[in-house]
Formats: sequence, structure tokens, C-alpha cells
Amino acid sequence: MDSSAELQPLNSVVSFVAQPRKMLIGGGWVDATSGRTFPTYNPATGKVLAQVAEADGTDVDLAVKAARHAFESGPWRTMKPCDRSRLIWKLADLVEQHTDDLAQLECLDNGKPLVYARAVDVAAAVEFLRYMAGWATKIEGNTIAISVPFMPGARFHAYTLREPVGVVGQIIPWNFPLLMAAWKLGPALAAGCTAVLKPAEQTPLTALRLGELVNEAGFPEGVVNIVPGYGEIAGAALAAHPGVDKVAFTGSTEVGRLIIKAAAGNLKKVSLELGGKSPNIVCADADLETAIMGAANAIFFNQGQVCSAGSRLYVSERIFDRVAEGVAGVAEKIRLGPGMDPASEMGPLVSEEQMNKVVGYLSSGYTEGAKALSGGKKCEGNGYFVEPTVLVDVRPSMKVVKEEIFGPVVTITPFKDFSNLVHLANDSMYGLAAGIWTRDLSTAHSLAAELRAGTVWVNCYNVIDAALPFGGYKQSGWGREMGHEVLELYTEVKSVCVQL
Ligand code: NAI
Ligand code: MG
Repeated sequence: MDSSAELQPLNSVVSFVAQPRKMLIGGGWVDATSGRTFPTYNPATGKVLAQVAEADGTDVDLAVKAARHAFESGPWRTMKPCDRSRLIWKLADLVEQHTDDLAQLECLDNGKPLVYARAVDVAAAVEFLRYMAGWATKIEGNTIAISVPFMPGARFHAYTLREPVGVVGQIIPWNFPLLMAAWKLGPALAAGCTAVLKPAEQTPLTALRLGELVNEAGFPEGVVNIVPGYGEIAGAALAAHPGVDKVAFTGSTEVGRLIIKAAAGNLKKVSLELGGKSPNIVCADADLETAIMGAANAIFFNQGQVCSAGSRLYVSERIFDRVAEGVAGVAEKIRLGPGMDPASEMGPLVSEEQMNKVVGYLSSGYTEGAKALSGGKKCEGNGYFVEPTVLVDVRPSMKVVKEEIFGPVVTITPFKDFSNLVHLANDSMYGLAAGIWTRDLSTAHSLAAELRAGTVWVNCYNVIDAALPFGGYKQSGWGREMGHEVLELYTEVKSVCVQL
């Protein structure tokens, strides 16, 4: 990997990582009660990037208490919706003003190319916060005409109130660290909840920087608390905490199951955005040039570390060779390098663990008979780089076809007709997303209806927008984030019935 062309980080970024970062509890920055810190690494080099306070159960408890206090007795409770809206909007403005340092921090902590960190992660976080700021003033209930047949003659005025669910615990992954923090905090704050956010241990830095901007924006203390730490310790404590009314989780399906179990203690509400193994379908009539590029981006964007990645590519047998060679050709040309090199199109995977997981899947694929048309192995040298890989000669029973790899690896399978295709595409425990490439309207809409997935993209992929609900069928999750649907996750409905 040629690292000579790397940008030098901004002074603000250098000084941010030079100090051990503290956690945000009750409006103040504090060390872990235990005094412990943990390292976060630069995945392009494998070297330690920064030390971060390590939350354990005691710190999580303090954060939940601060959030509870802010919810029950702080100014947040009586703040007008328009003032909540202005604060969220102000936070969006501050994130936008700090695009350069946030993007660099994301690039260094996660590994992703700087251009994407700016244009996707930071930009989408800003737009999402603005979208949610608008919702703060638009949360409403209904008036309902009720009959009550067993009370003849009685008259009523009945209505619903939509109220904040309370203290929410939010546990997020490392693939889009800042954006995930915005996705979680935005609707919670719009709804009037208070939050305890636990960023992923691999990538805590941008959430902590966001916490500084939360304070700068002027949110009352305790409304947003941020507790970096390990999943099995801080995450588990948050999911199990009896003082938390709702837990929102994005991450692996395996941990999603643990969250449900932990939540059972006080029956807190649970929403989950979990894994995927999304089918991406190229029909024989598709605009092939667009479909080939689209299929490559669907899997290789963010090094393949995207829950909705188009990781199972299904191609009509009539055009199979052209598409498979086309996608492999795109893969071969992708420039791998450190995120801080402006020429890099793909960065390293987030961690050594993730790299080893992906490489393990590649070997399992070869053992089961798959063949790599491009890439196929990890790169020599420092950092957690894996070549963008196209696997063919795959069967539905292979691990590389069934399981989420979460790396730059796509399997390509030919299909004959649509009935066989729908069966193949839906043959998964996941149901997060799907893609269809066709010029035929009827094919597009009938396939969209047949696919068991929370989002179906036609002639595009990974188009995610603040206004469009996102979430999973089957084992890809519970609930929908984004759009007005997300407010369901952060509000309770209260029926009020008045006899007149
Ligand atoms: P993970 O599910 O362990 O981590 C996600 C978050 O959950 C992190 O903040 C982590 O600290 C926390 N966590 C871990 N164990 C926990 C527990 N017992 N209780 C509460 N919180 C806990 O994901 P990991 O290990 O980083 O990656 C493993 C695989 O998960 C990936 O290879 C990928 O397949 C999948 N994944 C899916 C994501 C998505 O966007 N749907 C994001 C990240 C990973
Ligand atoms: Mg894990």
C-alpha cells in the first residue's frame, strides 16, 4: 500500500486524538469510574489511534440516572417542541460546520476513504438531523369518536396523546459511526426522550466529538449521555438496565438476540436493525453497463461493511458471463489504500477481527468449491485490507452464500426464470434489502412485491434517505427507522377518555 500521498490530519484532529477521551454523563466529561481506558486503532496501519474511557456497569448506571433525571425533572420535559426542533437543527449546523474534522476522525477511526466520510457519512448525518428536527413539531395524536355500547346515553371526548417513551439506550456499530449516532439520537430527541448512547468499541471517536457539539448546541445536561466501552460490558449493562425504557440496537443478529434477552427483565421496548444477505438481481433486459457498475457499488461501497450490501448477486443465465466478468473487472480496478489518501477508493476493513472473519469466509468458500474471478485474499503489508472479491461456482448451501460476510465479497449465481429466482432470492434468514435491475416495469413491480425485504431498490442500490423507512423482515430486525415510522419507536400512545 502506497501511503506517500496521505493527507496530514488537521490540528484539531491531532489534538482530539492526543488526549484520552472521556465519556459524557449528565452534561460533563468524566473518566471511567474504574479509571480504565481502551485503545481504538487506525485500521490503515493497525496502530493505536487514541485512548478512550472504558465504561462499565457503574458508569452505565450513572449515565442512565442522569438521563432519567433529565427526563423527569430537567428543562427538557417542559421545553416546547419548537425549541427541541431548534436545538436539533443547531446540532445539524454544528456537524456541518465541522465536516472536515469529523470526516477525518471517521476516516482514521473506521478506515473508510475520506471522500466518502465527507460526502456520505457527515453529509447524511446533517440531513438526517435536519429531517428529524422538523418532526419535533409534528408529533400528534387523534381525536376518536367512541361508542361504548354498554353505557347507553353517555357522551365522551376521547383522544390520544403521543408521548416520549422515556430514557432510551442506543447501541450502535462501527460501519457508519457518526451517521448511526445521528440516526439514533435524532428521533429520540425529536420525540422528547433522553438518551444513553454506546458507540462501538472499534470506532468511538466521532460519537464523542458529536457529544461536544451536543453541549455546544446547548442541549440541557443529561439529555444526551455517551458511554464508550465494550459490547459485552457497557452494551450488555445498558440493554439490561431496569431504568431504560427502550433499547435501540444496530449490529449483528447474534447480539440482537442477546439484546432481546437482556431487555426481558423490565420488558423494555426493543428495536433492532440487524444483519443482511441481500439479493441483487440483474435481469436479462437490464441496462448492463449501469447494472454492472451498480452491482459492484452495491457490494464494494464501505468495503462491503454495509448491512444492506448487495452480497448475493443473481444474474440471468443469458447474460451471466458478461455481468460476472464486468463486476470482476470493476473490482480489479478499485484502488485500495489508506482512507487519508485522496486517491483511495476502498480502505481497510475496520479491524483485524473483521479482516480475519472475511478471510475465513473466503477459505471456506474455496473449500466448498467457489472460485474467485477477482481479488480473493487479504493484501500484503500493514492494515486490514482485503481485495474486492467476486466469487462464482457457488451453491445455495455454501456458507459464503448463506451467511453475512460483511466485507468486499460478492457471490454470483445464475438464474433461469423468475419463479426459480424468487425462491433463491428469498431463501435466507435475512430480509433487509434487495435490488432489481431491469427495464421492464412489470418485472420491476412484480419482483418488488415478491421479495421478502424491508427495502427494494430498482435500478439503483443503497439509496437511503431520511424520509424513507428502513428496516428488516425476518431476522434482519424489528421496527423501522427513518421516515415518520421511526417516531413509533420513540413514542408511547396514551388514550385519554373524558365523560362529558
Ligand atoms: P456486534 O453486533 O457485536 O456490535 C454492534 C454493537 O453491539 C457494538 O456497539 C458492540 O459493542 C455492541 N455489543 C456487542 N455485544 C453486545 C452485548 N452482548 N450486549 C450489548 N451490546 C453488545 O457486531 P461486531 O462483533 O462488531 O461485528 C460482527 C458482525 O456483525 C459483522 O461481521 C457483521 O456481520 C455484523 N454487523 C452488522 C451491522 C449492521 O449494520 N447490521 C453492523 C456491525 C456488524
Ligand atoms: Mg461482537
